[in-house]
Amino acid sequence: MEMKKMPDSKSYFDHVAPRWDAMRVGFFSEIVREKAFSAADVQSGELAADIGAGSGFITEGLIQRNVRVIAVDQSKAMLEVMNKKFADHPGIQYRVSTADTLPVADDTVDHAFANMYLHHVETPAAAIREMVRILKPGGKLVVTDLDAHDFTFLKDEHFDRWPGFERPDIHRWLTEAGLKNVFVDCAGEDCCTRSTCGAVLAQISIFLASGVK
Ligand SMILES: C[S@@+](CC[C@H](N)C(=O)[O-])C[C@H]1O[C@@H](n2cnc3c(N)ncnc32)[C@H](O)[C@@H]1O
Repeated sequence: MEMKKMPDSKSYFDHVAPRWDAMRVGFFSEIVREKAFSAADVQSGELAADIGAGSGFITEGLIQRNVRVIAVDQSKAMLEVMNKKFADHPGIQYRVSTADTLPVADDTVDHAFANMYLHHVETPAAAIREMVRILKPGGKLVVTDLDAHDFTFLKDEHFDRWPGFERPDIHRWLTEAGLKNVFVDCAGEDCCTRSTCGAVLAQISIFLASGVK
């Protein structure tokens, strides 16, 4: 499908919201989600935040595990898609907000998940600090995102702010945010997408980073 040129990231995600589930299937799979839940050791009855929740890929897996969710995203349209899908589910709170001030009190959630969110934010280290702020002591942050890459079309076509990340930077940002037992490892799959003209196929490894508050 021809992509209209969007002025900013929020407009882009508002625009693709009705199609995000179908697009997402081509980019990455449940493998990433399962690795994230396993790293966090999620338990029934807990409360988690899904930051940059989109249409609810992470949230869907959490509610299947009887975990309550605060879903945060800058795109109201994305959260509306999610709300429609999970209309019958009482355990999800929807909050429209940006990375810099998450609308969640300090020390509130057992886990914070951020899947394919960090490479869209302006200041990744600050976004990490903000996610750590909302974790309870002992709570876990799990970030799944792209390793550093050279595919410039992702900036033009998908509003990627950063061309992935170097793992030592991610490790440092989690540590500097005050997390313990920090590790950064392979998430077990690659993110794949083709440029609009079809000329370039990007295949980018995905890392999983975690730490405990
Ligand atoms: C690539 S999508 C990933 C969505 C979802 N986590 C998933 O795995 O399908 C990135 C999401 O992050 C949101 N996002 C990007 N920048 C943001 C920011 N600065 N503050 C809040 N949300 C943001 C976008 O609106 C979008 O829904």
